[in-house]
Amino acid sequence: MCGIVGAVAQRDVAEILVEGLRRLEYRGYDSAGVAVIHNGMLSRTRRLGKVQELSSALDETPLAGGTGIAHTRWATHGEPSERNAHPHVSEGDIAVVHNGIIENHSKLREKLKGLGYVFASDTDTEVICHLVHHQLKTADNLLAAVQATVKQLEGAYGTVVIDRRDSERMVVARSGSPLVIGFGLGENFVASDQLALLPVTRSFAFLEEGDVAEVTRREVNIFDVNGNPVKREVKESEVTHDAGDKGEYRHYMLKEIYEQPTAIAHTLEGRIAGGKVLDSAFGENAAEFLKDIKHVQIIACGTSYHAGMAARYWLEDWAGVSCNVEIASEFRYRKSHLFPNSLLVTISQSGETADTLAALRLAKDMGYKATLTICNSAGSSLVRESDMAYMMKAGAEIGVASTKAFTVQLAGLLMLTTAIGRHNGMSDEMEAAITQSLQSMPAKVEQALGLDDAIAELAEDFADKHHALFLGRGDQYPIAMEGALKLKEISYIHAEAYASGELKHGPLALIDADMPVIVVAPNNELLEKLKSNVEEVRARGGLMYVFADKDAEFESDDTMKVIPIPHCDEFMAPLIYTIPLQLLSYHVALIKGTDVDQPRNLAKSVTVE
Ligand code: AGP
Ligand code: GLU
Repeated sequence: MCGIVGAVAQRDVAEILVEGLRRLEYRGYDSAGVAVIHNGMLSRTRRLGKVQELSSALDETPLAGGTGIAHTRWATHGEPSERNAHPHVSEGDIAVVHNGIIENHSKLREKLKGLGYVFASDTDTEVICHLVHHQLKTADNLLAAVQATVKQLEGAYGTVVIDRRDSERMVVARSGSPLVIGFGLGENFVASDQLALLPVTRSFAFLEEGDVAEVTRREVNIFDVNGNPVKREVKESEVTHDAGDKGEYRHYMLKEIYEQPTAIAHTLEGRIAGGKVLDSAFGENAAEFLKDIKHVQIIACGTSYHAGMAARYWLEDWAGVSCNVEIASEFRYRKSHLFPNSLLVTISQSGETADTLAALRLAKDMGYKATLTICNSAGSSLVRESDMAYMMKAGAEIGVASTKAFTVQLAGLLMLTTAIGRHNGMSDEMEAAITQSLQSMPAKVEQALGLDDAIAELAEDFADKHHALFLGRGDQYPIAMEGALKLKEISYIHAEAYASGELKHGPLALIDADMPVIVVAPNNELLEKLKSNVEEVRARGGLMYVFADKDAEFESDDTMKVIPIPHCDEFMAPLIYTIPLQLLSYHVALIKGTDVDQPRNLAKSVTVE
């Protein structure tokens, strides 16, 4: 689920591997390790904690060797500790790194113990290295041993295997966890994300599901799930973002919050003409797919799910189609009803979220008319496996807490609303108003970012709080949910969001002076209703922070701080009100001193169930 880097080269590779891990640090992890082959021996260094710990250990005792593998682990089986960190080793011969989960590990463990293997960790991963070791007793070579091994594995893996007795090669296998081969001059690499390898190459081939590949300095031979040799297209990377560079910003998250005007401008580029959204924004043949859609099923997780929740209001209000939104991990394990002419929309920053991918595969079997993904990662599994793709073009998002991906998803979903709406009665005027709003978003977001200092001051009030409540109505309810998720993710303050009309049905009991209540209150038709909800809180001694339109006529007093938000139309309001909530969580985390970019226990790309 976290980071894998591997190399076969003539030069020493430990530093390249560790730099690769550093570039994947943003994904969140708990330990790191590296193993290299030198003079026919495996040497391994692992550390609990940050890649920096590993790097310092290697400064003290450098590892020489041209073939090696490295890993940052996000524990699924076995506590985070040095003994559970990867690479895992079998009999001093085989070393393995693995992303994902081996579901049948207990059974395999028992079998391997019976064969005399002694386990040194509590991980599911360790079965892979002993299995390969065992297979090698009969297999012709490492490739054949890995092919025989993966046939016995159930679950998800991206894995890289090396053998000290065969130091010129690594064998890699992918099923459910992404891997990319990087091609160098007289040296080749593998990683779970191309970002890790940008300092050494820009030529990449993505492995497909079920692929096993043998990588030497001069050759890369790829075999598909049936063991047949295959070619995977080698492409020059277009990734321009240097993940190692935070620029002038203290954190990636802040940088990404500030990148939003540019990211939104990029996502709109070449996609709107003459007051209309071009169907081609959703990929080739999109016009054909979109024209008969009468129902939309949106599937996503976390922040991407919140974007989908907002889109439901738009699709039903403005595009004239029915829409359901569901968390991927729920959708995939229940029986759902398929409406005629349904479009399945997955939303994902990474394009590799295991639950979302599984839901897409299920939906394809169910017979949806078409599938569309709104995704930020070119070449990702969701993009490859969907009929259509809206590429977000938000640029790499490094902070674990998603920010610019969310606002760009909102912009993309607004575009989808028009592309579907025009076949279901949306007027040209309405579409023109939405596209005009979209085009003025970058400037408006810039204005909203001007609130940064005021919000930094406000954040002081939250530092000693343990809980917070976020309220919104209509399409601002998902914005309140996203605000609450951001605050809990990076400041570890328990935060909940409620549709404000729901307050009186229970949560009102929580209100007292220790429970700050954050209200998102744009000037829309629900404003008067929202004002009544605010009064309900005030009457019970609650302390409120109201993000409101300048004209909404809220006034600051002892019980309420009002933060005036630049005036904006109804189409862009959810996106604009997101900005101050992102800034609020950032500043609270800063005051609390938490790890903003890599919050505890979380990973950027959740490629396990
Ligand atoms: C957001 O801040 C998260 N860390 C998380 O909820 C994320 O949005 C979720 O895991 C979905 O990821 P995806 O967009 O890459 O599919
Ligand atoms: N399941 C493996 C472990 O717990 C791999 C986790 C990961 O993807 O980092 O060690």
